[in-house]
Amino acid sequence: MPTSEPRQPPPHWSPSTQALHAGLQTDPVTGAIAPGLTMSVNHRFVPGEAPFSADGVDDLAQLPYLYARWGNPTVRQLELRLAALEGAEDALATATGVAAIAAMFFTLLKAGDHLIVSDVCYAGASELARKVLPDYGIAVSAVNLSDLSAVAAALRPNTRLIHAETPCNPLLRLTDLSAVAVLAHAHGALLSVDSTLATPIVTRPLDFGADLVVHSLTKFMNGHGDALGGCVVGRRSLIARLRARAGVYLGAALSAHNAWLIQRGLDTLGVRLLTASQSAEAVAQFLSTHPAVRAVTYPGLPSHPQHALALRQMSVPGAVLTFQVNDAPAMATQLAQRLQLIHYAFSLGHQRSLVVLLRTDEMMASTYDLHGAALADYRRYAGDGVFRLSIGLESAADLIADLDQALVA
Ligand SMILES: Cc1ncc(COP(=O)(O)O)c(C=O)c1O
Repeated sequence: MPTSEPRQPPPHWSPSTQALHAGLQTDPVTGAIAPGLTMSVNHRFVPGEAPFSADGVDDLAQLPYLYARWGNPTVRQLELRLAALEGAEDALATATGVAAIAAMFFTLLKAGDHLIVSDVCYAGASELARKVLPDYGIAVSAVNLSDLSAVAAALRPNTRLIHAETPCNPLLRLTDLSAVAVLAHAHGALLSVDSTLATPIVTRPLDFGADLVVHSLTKFMNGHGDALGGCVVGRRSLIARLRARAGVYLGAALSAHNAWLIQRGLDTLGVRLLTASQSAEAVAQFLSTHPAVRAVTYPGLPSHPQHALALRQMSVPGAVLTFQVNDAPAMATQLAQRLQLIHYAFSLGHQRSLVVLLRTDEMMASTYDLHGAALADYRRYAGDGVFRLSIGLESAADLIADLDQALVA
């Protein structure tokens, strides 16, 4: 078990510096600076010396590494870094981003409770909340969290959690975290925020009053498209509850190898995000004037309906943008055939740029099921469908040239 203290960064360190150093422990035996990789599933222990179960153990340092589903030194090092990076007391790493969301829902909610979930958020989270949780007696309201009066109206005495995502996938609509945190706390509910698209380089939700932050580490945090992972970060007491219930019983432990890979990705999170965000701004501006493009949504453009909120809540506008064209299905085929640099593929947050069409009718049939004003708001951002473009580390000029040659009729 590492015994050297994790580095506690002074607040003046930039997010990029923190991504490299915060929470990092040098190896107490060898002095190694680069995080090690411990694959062992179990560790020897002295009977009677330490509690056997993680149940109710607030401080994981008290717990030996008995068995890797409870804790593993490499995974623990990642957790310490994630907590430090988000300005949190602790973190729980999970096998995937969806496992992190499931860990939170199945720990914090029980039969008779009420959840408010963003009416548009990552499809897996939306479907888990709306299609699975009601089977367990949990009431769920899907609410447009950018509409504060709708949030206030949806709150009930038994609301335990509001789950937000900002920017939300795939609309890039934002949630005013400070305002929603005030509403949640006034009703005794917690606010959790899926910050996968932002990362702590762009927004630290706990600074705005959120209680828990969730990431799909599969995306920007790892950033190399070669490992699945997820995490929840927040107060020590909440994370201890999550670890005791979900970490142990849902069984979605992160593999040590993936924890090691994700830490390697974290080292360059700052430069990757800042570079990709700069390129995304250039690409968004280019697409805004392209004759084949009908609309572009990007928090960094003054045309984004919540640009003012983006300036308040995001240090840079991020590396994901969407655009609309006239005949989207035909253009999807054209882009898949013609793009030479950008891959036509799902996912986001990798070092290589990715684009995919998300058709509104298909999203409604498979996932969101919105009607009336909610559907109108979806269409306000997405029309009949959006191409979600996740910008990687290619040069902005090369990306623009690739899009230009692929978009022309
Ligand atoms: C915002 C967001 N949250 C969570 C997830 C789920 O992550 P994972 O694929 O690691 O389970 C995704 C995946 O696309 C996502 O975009």
